[in-house]
Amino acid sequence: MFMFENISEGKNYKSLFNGEWVKSKSGKTIQLKSPVDETTIGEIQSLSQEEVNDILENSKAAQIKWGETPINERAEVLYKAAELLEENVDEIAQIMQREIAKDSKSAVSEVKRTVDFIKFTANEGKHIEGETIGGDNFPGFNKNKLSFVTRVPLGVVLSISPFNYPVNLSASKIAPALIAGNSVVLKPPTQGAISALYLAEVFNKAGLPKGVLNTVTGRGSEIGDYLVTHRNVNFINFTGSTEVGKHIAKEANMIPMLMELGGKDAAIVLEDADLELAAKNIVSGAYSYSGQRCTAVKRVLVIDKVADKLINLIEERVSNLKVGNPEEVVDITPLIDSKAADFVQGLIDDALAKGAKLLLGNKRERNLIYPTLFDNVTTDMRLAWEEPFGPVLPIIRINNIEEAISIANKSEYGLQSSVFTRNIDDAFYIAKKLEVGTVQINNKTERGPDHFPFLGVKSSGMGTQGIRYSIEAMSRPKAIVLNLPR
Ligand code: NAP
Ligand code: G3H
Repeated sequence: MFMFENISEGKNYKSLFNGEWVKSKSGKTIQLKSPVDETTIGEIQSLSQEEVNDILENSKAAQIKWGETPINERAEVLYKAAELLEENVDEIAQIMQREIAKDSKSAVSEVKRTVDFIKFTANEGKHIEGETIGGDNFPGFNKNKLSFVTRVPLGVVLSISPFNYPVNLSASKIAPALIAGNSVVLKPPTQGAISALYLAEVFNKAGLPKGVLNTVTGRGSEIGDYLVTHRNVNFINFTGSTEVGKHIAKEANMIPMLMELGGKDAAIVLEDADLELAAKNIVSGAYSYSGQRCTAVKRVLVIDKVADKLINLIEERVSNLKVGNPEEVVDITPLIDSKAADFVQGLIDDALAKGAKLLLGNKRERNLIYPTLFDNVTTDMRLAWEEPFGPVLPIIRINNIEEAISIANKSEYGLQSSVFTRNIDDAFYIAKKLEVGTVQINNKTERGPDHFPFLGVKSSGMGTQGIRYSIEAMSRPKAIVLNLPR
């Protein structure tokens, strides 16, 4: 039997509700077009508020039994899901190529990484332990008071994922939430929804009880506010833009949340850096999946003395990047939509108008922006501060370490930064001063490995992801205090 036969009728993709794939009662759907050539890939259900309410009631009811299911049994479902996903890597990767124009290598790697993520989460979940605390640690109390602390689920987790990693950034919310005993409502990105629905079917087929994972499809701008303020939602796990993240944080008064938002990651290159290593990391960090990664290198701050040499090395590598269609082995593919391409073009035009030196690129065919590289970017240009989410890299020349730290920290974002140097003292000095979640020494900025803590400060997010951290974020301590008579 074909693994995914239930999720669609032809190109009409349904939504997962209580273990069944269903259509919206209203018959309303959203057409999804290919970012490459605008042909129709399929349509997804545009669910009404009433349907979203039914889903959340169902998720709440289903969570009770799942929360009581032993962790080792929950882990078995995750192992099975990982196995099924592994068997379908190529099919799901191909859908991603069509739906979000992710190049074939990156798409396959996203699905394989997700297999490992789910297995690791199942293993990690089995090591969740509580603790016993004696009262006598605190003045005035004795050992007759004992607190038994265990971890319990939060209830219903609303997982909202972005277009750029529709499989991995959905699974990185679903798997830790499930192992902790929560039920999950997945709101996938509209463009990217089909890939995420395949993932949902993998969990469904793995034996997840009915209603423990439901999906809600529809435009975030239409159903988002209703979802994030629903009384049955106990936790919101969101990845997406800072703009939408801030909006949700305001709306969802008192609902705890984890947010992974935008970034403007700087690569700081010092005089003594291995420039070949820096150039290699900067180019792959800035341009992979056409720069549509939160952790993409989005500005280079290089000491002026070595700038020419570094720029030559970067330029050579950028000019060798392959541009084309996602089915091919390429680095640069069309951006997710023409609005995204217009935005990137606006940043390029502003930099040109303000005197930045164009080294490569500034060529566009519909959504496809060719890899673009600028030297002499200055802090009055939008490109110095705004997140392009496209293949354009600004180089800012600096005079010393303090200037690098100052410009890096002036950003509203604080996701990651890289420092390239052979001097460990300088590396740690800068790393300690940078206002970011993670500093990479002599490597590009990146999220993985996925058990490391991953977090953004300032406008880049709140809370910490990473397998164990995510499980902890989506569970809470429950204390039962034993009071012995003597
Ligand atoms: P987005 O436009 O903010 O959308 C993210 C998700 O939020 C989508 O599922 C979207 O649904 C939904 N949404 C939109 N409006 C909503 C509302 N009012 N209430 C609830 N949900 C709503 O972001 P994107 O364009 O998909 O992703 C790119 C951005 O994500 C970039 O800024 C990138 O830096 C950031 N990102 C950050 C990380 C990180 O780990 N820090 C990782 C990946 C991406 P629709 O698709 O239906 O609008
Ligand atoms: O787009 C944001 C992702 O969390 C980045 O992950 O560094 O593995 O590409 P990545």
